[in-house]
Amino acid sequence: MKNKILLIDADADFLDVTKKLFETQGYDVLTALNGQVGFARAKTESPDLIITEMILGYENEGAELAKAIAADAAVRNIPVVMVTSADKIKSFPHDIVPNEKDLPVKMVIKKPVSAEQLLDVAVKFIEKTGKKHRTLVGGIDTIANKWKGKKGNLIMVLHEIQNTYGYVPRDVAFELSRALDVPLTRIYEVITFYNYFKLEPPGKHIISVCMGTACYLKGNPIVLDELKHVLNIEESQTTKDGMFHLQIVRCLGCCGLAPVLMVDQKIYGKVKKSDITSILSEYTNKEKGVKDAINV
Ligand code: FES
Repeated sequence: MKNKILLIDADADFLDVTKKLFETQGYDVLTALNGQVGFARAKTESPDLIITEMILGYENEGAELAKAIAADAAVRNIPVVMVTSADKIKSFPHDIVPNEKDLPVKMVIKKPVSAEQLLDVAVKFIEKTGKKHRTLVGGIDTIANKWKGKKGNLIMVLHEIQNTYGYVPRDVAFELSRALDVPLTRIYEVITFYNYFKLEPPGKHIISVCMGTACYLKGNPIVLDELKHVLNIEESQTTKDGMFHLQIVRCLGCCGLAPVLMVDQKIYGKVKKSDITSILSEYTNKEKGVKDAINV
């Protein structure tokens, strides 16, 4: 399951571009245009992080929201990041919430805020606090119990883990070893034997190059070489910036379009070496467009 971020801001455009930014990074994003709706969504959806503007319907509405969150046991542990203009920071939070240590507000960021700042916030308050695997660690016993005692159970459980996270995180492999009472070495034997299983997070965009017979004969080895060259990675690797993961597959079921490659779920047929740069730029430009919109 994805990590969830709740964005609260009266500026619908800011909400829209920020939502897209986080979605490109694999987060689930909820939005609210005011503190009241935001608080209700926090209660029903239990996000992993709340990012809110201080000035919403009225000047200190964001601070009032923080106060309401601090007073509610169901949501008070959710970290809150306040995004606001510089002159408001001076008076916040001391005059709004006297008991500062109880505040869920972990950070105040001055506007304009950059895409990098926002993404760093998510990493800092969700991923580095170990919440990234919260659901999986909590659910591993359920998955393990479902398959316990059944033939081939280890592979089935690993499939569920990989389908959920896109790879098999190390801490989850440890949990699995305990839950299934299988040595960790056995788990890693299986993971490394099958190409399907990954030990590293996959890139944001998965490039699947077909090496089925039709695509192989029509020139996909050349296309694959070009991809490796441009991305500076080998097959089954992810680019340093985490943008692309390159993998080989056997027949994508559209041999009439050979040679074929697929990026995420989009098929590209009759691909030539010279098409690679423009195909990749579709994805890098999309990312850049979202970041530029945030940075404005
Ligand atoms: S061989 Fe490539 S799509 Fe079938």
